[in-house]
Order: sequence, then C-alpha cells, then structure tokens
Amino acid sequence: MNKSLRPAVIAGNWKMNKTPAQTTELINEMKPLVADAACDVVLCVPFVDLQAALAAAEGSNIKIGAQNCHFEKSGAFTGEISADMLKELGVTYVIIGHSERRTYFGETDVTVNKRTLAALNAGLTAIVCVGEYLEQREQGVTNELVALQTKIALQNVTEGDLSKIIIAYEPVWAIGTGRTATADQANEVCAVIRETIAGLYGKAAADSVTIQYGGSMNAANADELVGKPDVDGGLIGGASLVAKDFAVIVAAASK
Ligand code: 13P
Repeated sequence: MNKSLRPAVIAGNWKMNKTPAQTTELINEMKPLVADAACDVVLCVPFVDLQAALAAAEGSNIKIGAQNCHFEKSGAFTGEISADMLKELGVTYVIIGHSERRTYFGETDVTVNKRTLAALNAGLTAIVCVGEYLEQREQGVTNELVALQTKIALQNVTEGDLSKIIIAYEPVWAIGTGRTATADQANEVCAVIRETIAGLYGKAAADSVTIQYGGSMNAANADELVGKPDVDGGLIGGASLVAKDFAVIVAAASK
C-alpha cells in the first residue's frame, strides 16, 4: 500500500446551503486556514454559488466543484446543467451519484455512469459516490454492492481517464447522522473499491486512484479516518460549512 501514489483530496459538499454572498464570506474565511495544505482542497457548492466561489477562491489553493451534472451536452432538460457549462465557468470537479441524488432524485447506477462519462468528456474530475444503506450493511452485502456500483459507474471509462476519477465511499447510514463508520469499516470498503478497480484496470492503475470516505467526518475523527492506508481523504458535508472544522480536516489529510 503506498499512499504517496495518489493525492489525498478533501472535498467539501455544501449540499443545498449558502447563498452567493455567504459563499464569498465562507471561502474568504477558509482561504488562510487551508493555505498550507499538503492535500488537494475542493469545495463543491450549489450551482448558483459557483461564480462567487470561483471568484473568491481565485489565486488560492481551493478548487471549485459542482454537485451534479447532466449526461447530455444540451437540450430539453429543464432545470439541468451540462458538464460543458460547468467547464466554461472554470469549475474543475463535479460530484456524481451522491446518495441524496440516488435516494431523492431517481439517480441510478446507469445514470451515474452516463453522468461520469459526460463529466470526463468535458474535462472535469468526477467525484463518484458509492455506498450502502444500513439494511444492506446488516444483510452483509456491502462489499459486493459497492463493488458493483463501482463497476457500473466505470463502464467505458478508459484507463487514461482514471486520473480524473475520485471514488467517494459514503455509507448512507453515516451521512448527516453523526454516526461515522469506524476507521476500519471505512478502510475495508475503500480497499474493496481499490481491488475492484485493480480487477478492471490492473493494480498500478488502482493504486493511483484517490478513494475518499464520507459520512459524518469531522474535526474530531478525521485524523483516524484519513490515517488508514486505503482512505485518501474525505467528502465532507456538515463540517465543510464551518471554516475552522474544515481546516482541521484538511490539516489531518496533509500529514
Ligand atoms: P456529512 O459529513 O454531513 O455526514 O455528509 C457527508 C456527505 O454526504 C458528503 O457528501
């Protein structure tokens, strides 16, 4: 296991929080706190906050991402945003297949794959989310399920494109619940994801992919989670809305 083969990435997922003015304020507060990061730092903000976020983050080490993109380039898809639109703004990352989109907005493994391909075609880095519900963990199918989600998400993704793929393991039962997976649970599933990628592309390719954990990661538990050999950072919800907490998590991943 060699973590130096891939960057650690701490990405904030702001979900449906913050107006453009609040975005400017929070990023201005965060900038000095994460300036010395030795990991990649990304903030995924609501679509309407992207321009404010890009302006506030300009010249800093904070990169800006969106929380979804559509799989078509353009057309009659009311309310949707294409990957090309994001790219033109200067966005560099996009979250794909978050469990909230799967649960509340009908996202499936198939549409996750289509959106992933669209993001890659536009030159964006896709943060692809996988993870099980509590019932599935209790049924003992977590590893198989997450492996399958990963395989489907990566259909037709070339080995060359893997440098633009991040996988985020987010057990649904740990999201916004304060109930974090243990570091060993997180590491076990992240390792399963890496083995799955190794099965598709070979071990060297799999060792180069960043695999994050997400689900109630916070300033108190980040150190232990990101210290695990297969956990290469985190996708952070609630704690990414508090500058000093987010900075502690970034510092943990910078060690
Ligand atoms: P919380 O950190 O609020 O649990 O959210 C995790 C998440 O869903 C990140 O995408």
